[in-house]
Amino acid sequence: MDRLKGKIAIITGASQGMGSAHAKAFIDEGAKVVLTDLNVADGDALAKSLGEHAIFVEHDVSDAAGWRRVVDAAEAAFGPVSVLVNNAGIIGPVSMSADLDEAAYARVCAINQTGVFLGMKAVLPGMIAAGNGSIVNISSISGIVAIVGSPNLAYVGSKFAVRGMTKHVAVEYGDRNIRANSVHPGYVRTPMMVAATDEDGGGAAMAIPLRRFAESVEISNLVVFLASDEASFITGAEHVIDGGMTAA
Ligand SMILES: NC(=O)c1ccc[n+]([C@@H]2O[C@H](COP(=O)([O-])OP(=O)(O)OC[C@H]3O[C@@H](n4cnc5c(N)ncnc54)[C@H](O)[C@@H]3O)[C@@H](O)[C@H]2O)c1
Repeated sequence: MDRLKGKIAIITGASQGMGSAHAKAFIDEGAKVVLTDLNVADGDALAKSLGEHAIFVEHDVSDAAGWRRVVDAAEAAFGPVSVLVNNAGIIGPVSMSADLDEAAYARVCAINQTGVFLGMKAVLPGMIAAGNGSIVNISSISGIVAIVGSPNLAYVGSKFAVRGMTKHVAVEYGDRNIRANSVHPGYVRTPMMVAATDEDGGGAAMAIPLRRFAESVEISNLVVFLASDEASFITGAEHVIDGGMTAA
């Protein structure tokens, strides 16, 4: 399939979990993909397995200088970046707000929130020059509502911030044909979620109308669509994909 033919994408946090599923889906749809992550071994192996249209770049999304290297690598390997998927994120400690360590709060915000800002800042000049672009920022249902069982205030605050920053950029750059959308998954079966819930969809799944966790590829289907020209009139929108959890 060629729904992303001609697109050059950066996907952060692509060594495992949802990011790796997005990278595979993008390659399947004809995109050229730069995978980035802190985890070099898995990211490098995945990029190699995806073939000549994928490369891996070691990258901490909270590092501004690192973003310049990623964009330079993308342009050198494939050409101007047309899609950015800001996927990398961490949960941080499970903690009540009164007990939340300030350094842990700052770390979650640096990766989940500042990392998204730095990524958009890094790719926007090239998208403006090209006259098109699609930015997909991965938030969470924790960026829509406060739910029982959220790990901590920093995670929720950072995911709400992603939703707001996405709308702001969509409004700012709509007249340049640059779209920005946020994606808000519920429970998805990834290493992050398995570590956080210590189960695989059993008890927690009872709060979900579809009675199960999502598989990563189900989120990839939405991310591919938003990245593609099929979504050409969709911008500034929040896309909840949670098996009905926030409707219940
Ligand atoms: N799993 C879920 O149920 C769920 C639900 C809602 C939202 N999300 C969000 O989806 C995104 C992906 O989650 P996942 O479940 O696949 O997580 P995961 O932990 O399985 O994978 C995250 C990847 O990001 C990388 N990463 C972490 N910090 C980084 C940094 N500073 N720079 C670059 N890479 C970094 C990790 O090495 C890892 O490969 C996250 O933003 C997460 O908050 C997940």
